[in-house]
Amino acid sequence: MVKILVAGAAGFIGSNFVRRLLAAGGHEVVVLDSLTYAGNMENLAGLDASNGFSFVHGSICDPAVVKAAVQGCDAIVNFAAETHVDRSIENPAVFIESNVLGTMVLIQAAVGAGLRLLQVSTDEVYGSLGEEGLFDEDWPLDPSSPYAASKASADMLIGASARTYGLDAVITRCGNNYGPRQFPEKLIPLLIANAMAGETLPIYGDGLNVRDWIHVDDHCDALRLVLEKGQSGRVYNVSAVGELTNREVCSRILAALGKPESLMRHVDDRPGHDRRYALDPSRLQNELGWKANVAFDEGLSTTIEWYQANSAWLDNVRSGEYRGYYERMYASRLESGTTVAEED
Ligand code: TYD
Repeated sequence: MVKILVAGAAGFIGSNFVRRLLAAGGHEVVVLDSLTYAGNMENLAGLDASNGFSFVHGSICDPAVVKAAVQGCDAIVNFAAETHVDRSIENPAVFIESNVLGTMVLIQAAVGAGLRLLQVSTDEVYGSLGEEGLFDEDWPLDPSSPYAASKASADMLIGASARTYGLDAVITRCGNNYGPRQFPEKLIPLLIANAMAGETLPIYGDGLNVRDWIHVDDHCDALRLVLEKGQSGRVYNVSAVGELTNREVCSRILAALGKPESLMRHVDDRPGHDRRYALDPSRLQNELGWKANVAFDEGLSTTIEWYQANSAWLDNVRSGEYRGYYERMYASRLESGTTVAEED
């Protein structure tokens, strides 16, 4: 039985990872999560000691909490992070605290206990691509937002700790995830939630920014493979080679829900908005034999079905602090924007 400390697993990707790992058998999981706005115990509903699951409420920034939680574990997987670019523009300090200082605490715990650390990073550390080319793992780090800079900093601390302290670490850099239980501040769940409610779908700028989409199940399978078989010190890009413009994503969601394109509305662009992300996953495919299994349209349709079947989950996360966030982000921008249908 392998026992893993999974930090940040009350969030979207982490909860999916834990569910898949426990369903596969042969694992015990200790989840450490501070339950910020994006962490939600409902995401872990149905898991308990009989599944090999336990939960510690605490922060990765607290060395004593981490040291206690890691007792008896064989590895650490780190999902714990502030992840939303728009929030990082508004309030960068908390990103530095969680993503940089918190990762350093996990690094020290991993070194102290002689454990492997899998750091779940992002393609955003590479910055923005032009129309051509793909990021490979040797691409220079050139982050554009405080969020991306905080993740790049954590990646660099891990590289430095491998050399300085002999840390056994692997890093994954994935594109944009979608799937069940994603917090609706991110593009796909925000558009699904708004379209379901017949509300306006806000598209930043011209909507031609490109993201590299992957279903969360494919990402989580890659993470397990890298954790178990990845070469120490190595970075692995994770991509289903699923490039789409934001407008295309929006159109597909509206079509799937039978809603009019007139719900799509341009709003002011995000400052420092990266134009395109696209990753080369050949290292993961060739060295570890990974491949993506979920086609975008299929994954989108099951994701929409999940949100339709779980409207109580959605209502719950869209109440409380989310309302204030949404008002701040969109209220004035939605009034001034033009609909894509008018413009075309
Ligand atoms: P997001 O989900 O925030 O992920 P990231 O910025 O990490 O890629 O945004 C994905 C893309 O969608 C990005 O180009 C910004 C854009 N976007 C919108 O056009 N409207 C929105 O309401 C949101 C949240 C994002």
